[in-house]
Amino acid sequence: MFTCRDSGCKAMASYSSNMMRCALAIFLAILVLQVRSRKPNIVLMIADDLGYGDVGCFGNSTLRTPHIDSLAADGAKLTQHLTASSLCSPSRAAMLTGRYPVRSGKWHLGWSKDRLSDFAHHPMKHGFDYFYGLPLTNIKDFGSEGERLMKSVDPYIYYRILSIFLVMFITASCLYKSNNIGILFFLLILFTITAVFGLLYFVTDNFKLLNSQIYREYDNVEQPIDLETLMRKLVIEGQEFLEERSKDDAPFLLVMSWTHVHTYLHPAKRFGGKSRHGTYGDSVEELDWAVGEILKSLEQLGFKDNTMVYFTSDNGGHLEERNKHGEPHGGYNGILRGGKAHGTVDGGIRVPTVMRWPGHITPGTVVDEPTSLMDVLPTVAKAMGASVPDDRQLDGYDLLPLLQKQTLVSSHEFMFHYCGTEVHAVRYRPREGKSVWKLALKEPPYLPGQDVCMFICHCANSITLDPPYLYDMTSDPGERRPMNATDLPEIYHKMQEALKDHQQGLIPVETQYSLAKLFWRPWLQPCCNSNYPTCSCTDPKFNNKKYKFD
Ligand SMILES: *[C@@H]1O[C@H](CO)[C@@H](O)[C@H](O)[C@H]1NC(C)=O
Repeated sequence: MFTCRDSGCKAMASYSSNMMRCALAIFLAILVLQVRSRKPNIVLMIADDLGYGDVGCFGNSTLRTPHIDSLAADGAKLTQHLTASSLCSPSRAAMLTGRYPVRSGKWHLGWSKDRLSDFAHHPMKHGFDYFYGLPLTNIKDFGSEGERLMKSVDPYIYYRILSIFLVMFITASCLYKSNNIGILFFLLILFTITAVFGLLYFVTDNFKLLNSQIYREYDNVEQPIDLETLMRKLVIEGQEFLEERSKDDAPFLLVMSWTHVHTYLHPAKRFGGKSRHGTYGDSVEELDWAVGEILKSLEQLGFKDNTMVYFTSDNGGHLEERNKHGEPHGGYNGILRGGKAHGTVDGGIRVPTVMRWPGHITPGTVVDEPTSLMDVLPTVAKAMGASVPDDRQLDGYDLLPLLQKQTLVSSHEFMFHYCGTEVHAVRYRPREGKSVWKLALKEPPYLPGQDVCMFICHCANSITLDPPYLYDMTSDPGERRPMNATDLPEIYHKMQEALKDHQQGLIPVETQYSLAKLFWRPWLQPCCNSNYPTCSCTDPKFNNKKYKFD
């Protein structure tokens, strides 16, 4: 933690407090700042799993995203904007802190820490003044088709649980028969394995009951989430916040953290069947509508000219995602190779990003240089006239010099691309010329002849490249023509040295993906009406006739 001399840096405190909130968590959070002078307002919009090739201004001619495109036309398009991870939690943690996720001890938003309602990880305990949204996640289990995320991750999960249970059961029985153990001991063993496997089954089969909920500030207002009206509700909350802001003069920071276009996809009825790309396409178009609604409010309330708007995605499109009828429910990453959770290939980490700030960014600007979501924090700080914390290493840079063409070369000379807590690739932007090099140390464990895994690629199964590959990202952005790094020793050596320096400066933290970190803690489980196992509530606010859902 650090103290603030400038009121503007309160915003930064909320961002970079080292208790990360994020990610499985999708949320809408809002911060109001007190100010002396006329500082800009900031609106950050983050889509979930939206692919590089899903957006009109990034080359998609068959989906309609006029509002996102308008931000590029009225501002800038960032064609090489990179996430710190191809998975949501670490990517979002990095965006909020301006640092590589490996530097932080917490990635997911989570909720409470020691007791059910301590709300230790709640955004309002980390500098935000208002919160409406999902503390946890949206996953396919939340839909009405009985799909299970765990079954996609491992199609045989339930057979595995059952067979391990059976093996243990038979072993225990044999031990009992061979009379080595007493009946009581036998029953105890039986009870334990039944309880453990029963719990495993319960947790993996009940993600909806355990996770599908919306909070307004500290109140659990909706459980389970009505996904069909979710986008509309997020938009209403964002717009009402903006209306409130028009009553005072203080600049604000609004974070619209969309659940779109992560599965389970359930667009509102009026978007159903309207796009040319099934439910996924309909959801992209609903997302674009929502962006348009926020832009409309900014304009109507007179905020447009003094507001920096940023739109991005937390990682690439999920190529393997399908619904149970086999219809593709994940995004498209254009010419880039791979997608979400594919380690460090660009399809997983290069995201469609646009920015608008009238009077500061010339309409139609294009930035092709490597930039990062970690740049958001220093950029916002700069725009607000606030200083960034100096008690920790930041990995992002102010984007404004690039956006304003004061410089033509990215400040990121090297970028380290992580899969979990391990660097799988390094990006190098020499200070001269135009080239961008990517050194791939490991590749995703793709199925033979394809650029996809079964459902998701796991970092641990990645394939070590020996010698590593080098890609010229300027002429080969799709990573199709690998060169042996050893054939370009000068470049290779520079990148190795940079990686060594980077790793020497790291203070290792506990892995955030261990089973112990991820496993359910029953004592922290929220239930909106304490009426287990129903836990069913609808938000009274939206019963009011003034809100129309169609
Ligand atoms: C547009 O996006 C959709 C949905 O991801 C994809 O299926 C389609 O191929 C894309 N179209 C073009 C022309 O890029």
